[in-house]
Amino acid sequence: MKELLHGIYGLWLYLPLSGLSRKWRRFFNKIRGKESDLLQQIRLPAISWRECTSRNTVKIWEHNKANGNIRISELGIINAIASNCEDDTNLFEIGTFDGRTSLNLAYSSPTHCKVFTLDLKPETETAYPLIRGERHMVDKESSGSRIEKYRESNSLVTNKIEQLFGDSAKFDFSPYHDSCSLIFIDGSHAYDYAISDTNQAFKLVKKGGIILWHDYGVWEGVTKALEEIEQTNQFGLKSIKGTSLVYWKNE
Ligand SMILES: C[S@@+](CC[C@H](N)C(=O)[O-])C[C@H]1O[C@@H](n2cnc3c(N)ncnc32)[C@H](O)[C@@H]1O
Repeated sequence: MKELLHGIYGLWLYLPLSGLSRKWRRFFNKIRGKESDLLQQIRLPAISWRECTSRNTVKIWEHNKANGNIRISELGIINAIASNCEDDTNLFEIGTFDGRTSLNLAYSSPTHCKVFTLDLKPETETAYPLIRGERHMVDKESSGSRIEKYRESNSLVTNKIEQLFGDSAKFDFSPYHDSCSLIFIDGSHAYDYAISDTNQAFKLVKKGGIILWHDYGVWEGVTKALEEIEQTNQFGLKSIKGTSLVYWKNE
């Protein structure tokens, strides 16, 4: 029951209010000619989350947000989209952190889906430099601690999740090509990684599948990469209103 209440709160209360707050802050930055570090002006066309899913309500597990997690509204949208995924397909997340989103992907997706989540171990040498401000999300005691928390008590959900390790710019994604109904990109926010992770996601996504990016309009590297990709290719990337999510469906 409380998971449903968190879903209603995330999508129907938190989302419109936080969306309005971001809109106002962008507006005031614009008229003052100021660009703040973690809030850029955005240019991709916007759509409502309602256009991305047939669901109106969702359940949200592990609602409490740690520094490094996505917002509860964004988690609600991801859960809604995950629940629409085709059964027996793969979901792929780049950037596990504590596993809050991986857990929710497994919880919301149809029974026979598998969730793969890739994370960087602190000691792994990266192909590109990470940016200042994201090292703390890499340098954690363990990856996927929230998945571990439910290993025994909720094994039906946690058994759907497979944790993978490596640098996303060097990782061999080929076993998962053309098999994923949902890809969530939330690894490094450096420009080079946003480009490289996006290229990989386009290979992972199956027909009818969806790619979601996090932190558009928040981390400069992600914003710049997605706008350049769209300008060059006209794929039809859309920013989901009130969030930092970008949406694309492989129609
Ligand atoms: C913002 S956190 C992810 C949050 C998580 N998706 C959630 O919803 O709670 C970023 C994660 O990306 C991982 N990461 C950073 N650079 C990476 C890379 N090059 N390859 C794979 N994972 C990376 C970090 O270790 C961290 O766990």
